[in-house]
Amino acid sequence: MTAQTSISSVTARTGERSLTAIVLAAGKGTRMRSDLPKVLHAVAGRSMLGHVLAAAREAGATRIAVVVEPGQEAVAAEIARAAPGASVHPQIERLGTAHAVLAAREALEAGSDDVVIAFGDTPLVTGATLTRLRAPLADGAAVAVLAFTAENPAGYGRVLVQDGRVVAIREEKDASAEERAVTLCNAGLMALSGPHALALLTRIGNANAAGEYYLPDAVGLAVDDGLAVAVVPVDEAEAQGVNDRVQLGVAEATIQARLRRAAQIGGATLVAPETVFLSVDTVLGRDVLVEPHVVFGPHVIVGDHCVIHAFSHLEGATLARGVQIGPYARLRPGAVLETGSRIGNFVEMKNARLGEGAKANHLTYLGDAEIGPGANVGAGTITCNYDGVNKHRTEIGAGAFIGSNTALVAPVSVGAGAIVGAGSVITTPVPADALAIARSRQRIIEGVAGGMRAGLQAIKAAKRSAGL
Ligand code: UD1
Ligand code: CA
Repeated sequence: MTAQTSISSVTARTGERSLTAIVLAAGKGTRMRSDLPKVLHAVAGRSMLGHVLAAAREAGATRIAVVVEPGQEAVAAEIARAAPGASVHPQIERLGTAHAVLAAREALEAGSDDVVIAFGDTPLVTGATLTRLRAPLADGAAVAVLAFTAENPAGYGRVLVQDGRVVAIREEKDASAEERAVTLCNAGLMALSGPHALALLTRIGNANAAGEYYLPDAVGLAVDDGLAVAVVPVDEAEAQGVNDRVQLGVAEATIQARLRRAAQIGGATLVAPETVFLSVDTVLGRDVLVEPHVVFGPHVIVGDHCVIHAFSHLEGATLARGVQIGPYARLRPGAVLETGSRIGNFVEMKNARLGEGAKANHLTYLGDAEIGPGANVGAGTITCNYDGVNKHRTEIGAGAFIGSNTALVAPVSVGAGAIVGAGSVITTPVPADALAIARSRQRIIEGVAGGMRAGLQAIKAAKRSAGL
């Protein structure tokens, strides 16, 4: 109860204040050893930069400015996609975090009550944490620092406290032995009061061991000016930055644990949670059952009471209530499964709708297709949707029955209630209620099997004696 009251009062206080978020994403990310810019690597189906931009928006950013490495077109494209309206500021030389923030000077000059500075390679920081970080500004702090107590503080800037007050942040390279023993560490992210931000940032110099303009120096300057500095605690795991693929794996594991827990709390059963992989936008309804080894790629919505059997892979799929899929089902983008429909093992769907109560239970490909309610698609049925150049649609009417091993050569349709005989290759429309059989007629030749078999055995014996 107390916790809830304090959260809502924070939101109320920060709610009316304007917020500029500056996201630092310059740098080549050399240690990723990748052709892809570092901040575009994905965790839980979304780029690291996308996570940070989403958190900034959740924290109420009214303006977002992203500082980028010059010439990384793909980064600009991701910003346009994930945060339309965000401004993009190349940092020509990489001279430190304060220098990077000033690359977005225009955004600061536009003015706002609060400024939050986040890093593009710190994807686990939530919107709630950024909201907590800016909260002290509403109470008059000029600077708020996000910090954690580290078991091993090596590499981090240390938050120096005297008489219970923060006095400075010291980078590892510049720290004395005594300062290095401090375990309170700067997570890097910071909130600055809008009216003070530019004055503090432009006074930061580079007379330090690295010859860089350090953003954390804003703390010492604020203290010198007699301004209030707040420390906001955060979990070390949440503040983890990603510099290489090992840390990318750690970030993925952390976010997966978070997503699984949220799914469970939301009413889904994950039989073996550690084997289920979710995307940030996965929606699982109440009483959804997810068996082991299931992967949810981006944009999947699963309705209440669905069962996802083991080893299924879904992306861009929408499942209505009470749908069952798998084991070994593959749903690709545009798969829509209406209430109570069912797909079984080794069935693939892409850009296809399966009507209410319809079934395709075994070894089937449904691409660019509409399957009516109650239809039954037999084992081994394939929609031949691609002629090598164009894609074509297949329509199957309500209650139709498609026999096993049917090839539906699109564009083609099967009317409501029609029956297609097993093994048919259907190339022209089948009217409603019709029976279509499209295969060569079976012939019976009595009494010839024994002679045929003797002939085959003679060939085998001749080959063996010739040493073949
Ligand atoms: C920074 C903090 C340190 C803190 C640590 C937490 C500084 C000087 N130090 O150190 O106190 O403990 O984070 O992880 O801020 N960037 C640019 N342009 C630059 C420099 C950096 O865009 O010129 C971006 C980087 O891409 C990165 C972020 O700023 O996303 C942080 O920079 P980084 O060099 O990783 O800072 P740290 O040395 O880790
Ligand atoms: Ca770092």
